[in-house]
Amino acid sequence: MRLKGRIALVTGSGRGIGKGIAARFAREGALVGVNDIDPDRTDAAVREITVAGGQAFGLAVDVSDSAQVEAVFRTIIDSFGRLDVLVNNVGIIRDGFITKMTDEDWDRVIRVNLRSYFLCARAAAKIMIEQQYGRIINISSRAWLGNIGQANYSAAKGGVVSLTRSLALELARSGVTVNCVAPGIIETAMFRSMSEKAQNRHLSVQPMKRIGTAADVAYACLGFADEEASYITGQTLYVCGGKSLANYMG
Ligand SMILES: NC(=O)c1ccc[n+]([C@@H]2O[C@H](COP(=O)([O-])OP(=O)(O)OC[C@H]3O[C@@H](n4cnc5c(N)ncnc54)[C@H](O)[C@@H]3O)[C@@H](O)[C@H]2O)c1
Repeated sequence: MRLKGRIALVTGSGRGIGKGIAARFAREGALVGVNDIDPDRTDAAVREITVAGGQAFGLAVDVSDSAQVEAVFRTIIDSFGRLDVLVNNVGIIRDGFITKMTDEDWDRVIRVNLRSYFLCARAAAKIMIEQQYGRIINISSRAWLGNIGQANYSAAKGGVVSLTRSLALELARSGVTVNCVAPGIIETAMFRSMSEKAQNRHLSVQPMKRIGTAADVAYACLGFADEEASYITGQTLYVCGGKSLANYMG
């Protein structure tokens, strides 16, 4: 019960990695705000957590919209009086080779994957500075290193790493740590939608010969969320089964 009594918010947590993080945090005793733009996914995730014996509440809003984000944080403060952990997890992809990438592909990915992180971190920072305690965890991706067909996604995820480092410095004297988790390929709806051939290609270049799970990412987030992780800030932790190590040829 490493998060007993803590109030946490996980963005984009109606399914996939975010849902795994929310569920793990609830198992560790946190009261978890489940956010998703899709109300059905939000409700289903809250139900799953409560059926499993955890505590959760739903916030079905678009976290790339400033007014909706402000309203969410006001609701949390009005209801619980504090926020201890924010996980900026929301993310989308709109892949394409640079010459085919539209303005809309670029803008939407930057808006959801980077602007929302800024909006939520800003709102959380105001609360966390006041209470002199907080943990902000941003989900980047191994793709921040560069990826063909993902100029928009890679730029946003690189921005998430830089945002993490700057906020870690800005909040260092306020009892607030800011860290980043960069997953490699994780078994989610996106991975399962790939052809068998593509899935096998991904597997062949994994040192561990397995694909990561939402639980693997959740475990890394839990480490940063723990009160005891008070001297770790501004860091980016890869959760990729060794894929980021140099020279592995498959
Ligand atoms: N799946 C992977 O292999 C992988 C690898 C590296 C990093 N990541 C990152 O992990 C995070 C989660 O990825 P996932 O695969 O679980 O994604 P997912 O698509 O399964 O889940 C994301 C959720 O976010 C919600 N969402 C989308 N836009 C929103 C908005 N504006 N406001 C609120 N909710 C919104 C969606 O409805 C969806 O339920 C993302 O940041 C992603 O970039 C994923």
